[in-house]
Amino acid sequence: MSADRSDIIDKIVSLAKRRGFVFQSSEIYGGLNGCWDYGPLGVELLRNIKEEWWKWMTYREDIEGLDASILMHPKVWEASGHVENFTDPMVDCKQCKARFRVDVLSEMINEKKKTKALEELRNSIIDDSRLVDKYSDAFQTEDPFSTILEDADLSVKLLHEINCPQCGNKSTFTTARKFNLMFKTFIGPVEDSNAVVYLRPETAQGIYVNFLNVQSSARQKLPFGIAQIGKAFRNEINTKNFLFRTREFEQMEMQFFIKPADDKKWYEYWKAERLQWFKTLGMTGNKLRYHDHPRKKLAHYAKVATDIEYEFPFGWGEIEGIHNRTDFDLSQHEKFSGKSLKYFDDESKEKFVPYIIETSAGASRSFMAFFIDAYYEEEVKGEMRSVLKFHPRLAPIKTAILPLVNKDGMPEIAQEIEKELRRNYKVFYDDKGAIGRRYRRQDEAGTPYCVTVDTQSLQDKTVTIRERDSMEQIRIPVDGISSYLNDKLKL
Ligand code: GAP
Repeated sequence: MSADRSDIIDKIVSLAKRRGFVFQSSEIYGGLNGCWDYGPLGVELLRNIKEEWWKWMTYREDIEGLDASILMHPKVWEASGHVENFTDPMVDCKQCKARFRVDVLSEMINEKKKTKALEELRNSIIDDSRLVDKYSDAFQTEDPFSTILEDADLSVKLLHEINCPQCGNKSTFTTARKFNLMFKTFIGPVEDSNAVVYLRPETAQGIYVNFLNVQSSARQKLPFGIAQIGKAFRNEINTKNFLFRTREFEQMEMQFFIKPADDKKWYEYWKAERLQWFKTLGMTGNKLRYHDHPRKKLAHYAKVATDIEYEFPFGWGEIEGIHNRTDFDLSQHEKFSGKSLKYFDDESKEKFVPYIIETSAGASRSFMAFFIDAYYEEEVKGEMRSVLKFHPRLAPIKTAILPLVNKDGMPEIAQEIEKELRRNYKVFYDDKGAIGRRYRRQDEAGTPYCVTVDTQSLQDKTVTIRERDSMEQIRIPVDGISSYLNDKLKL
């Protein structure tokens, strides 16, 4: 991506819409916040990303696939800790009804005001030794304002002199409350509390509850993994940055079941393997990095965790999480279901709950990272071209077939080529407009190769192949096109 970073997201959103990659959900009704639709080119790109992930992760003997249902028994989410812990602390403005996640609100308030508010709060509780004891640790944290803001008892006091960033009024904030991010619905015709089910906030739990089913039916032995791609839903308060944080998205998750003593080895293995996947599919190496989670910020299920981050135009952002989830999930499901999820090791004759190393990538977030990474603006012969330099395996259209002119037998040859290639590839036939314009249209769609039928094709049955990134053209026989493409589409 070499274009100016400041307006890159706007350009990407506009290109995505214009070329049919991504549309706003329910656009004709004004859109639905945090939801997006994938258009003709977008759905191909997304499918290709998922397909590449599936092949990389499951075309090996120690990983099996699974497709579990989105709706699961509500006890699953009690066992997993999501009912209790999958929450964001929020405050509302009583005046304008705006709702803020406390860390986001904290970022909106300037440092001077925060220091003053903390000082006043400290002075107001100084005579109450019970409160001083209770909150002394909170004042010592790295970000005392956010920490105290999460506290239901003190949040109103802390915000007393702070203006609402939306309506500007003072003393209008509610106490901080926990807001669960899971979407609820009802199963069956009666809408009461016994019928509540959740749209899954992660695909992982479908894997854990099927651990023994998969292990015994596929006759796997530890270490082995189960992979799944599917939709997940989170009622995010602040959706932002296009596809980065949405309410409906897809995950590509793999849970690797291991002996507890091997956890460090497999954690390192999967860290390396997952980073390599992004690089192999062409993502710029120096825009990728690991971000290890500090112990204090670990999710409730994790012993260690790292994110693979991509440098988006708005800063570094997580595209995949790798977690050592220990035996937390399987033990919890044993406890809540009353069923054993222990594994019997033939060699040691031991029965134990395996540890799990999880790799959890967002398909939609990876889509956005691949899209941004591929976007270039280049000057070619005094004109700007925008081009999406997707890895050929990810490119939505693999090749465009272009008769130079729409006469003299060229369309007939081009249509024959199209018919042949269509059997194996997503191709596009275009006979409209000047050839240069047609190439530009394909550049913008990310098509890696254009096959052009010209006058020479009529004489010697050859065509030119124009390569998207270098814009170089070579001449090859018509009956060599398929093997040329096959070769280029290898990893
Ligand atoms: N099972 C573990 C888990 O769900 P996570 O870090 O919450 O971990 C994993 O999510 C990945 O899912 C993230 O790295 C991101 O790519 C994707 N993801 C999470 N929330 C998302 C959202 N609201 N919108 C788009 N992608 C999201």
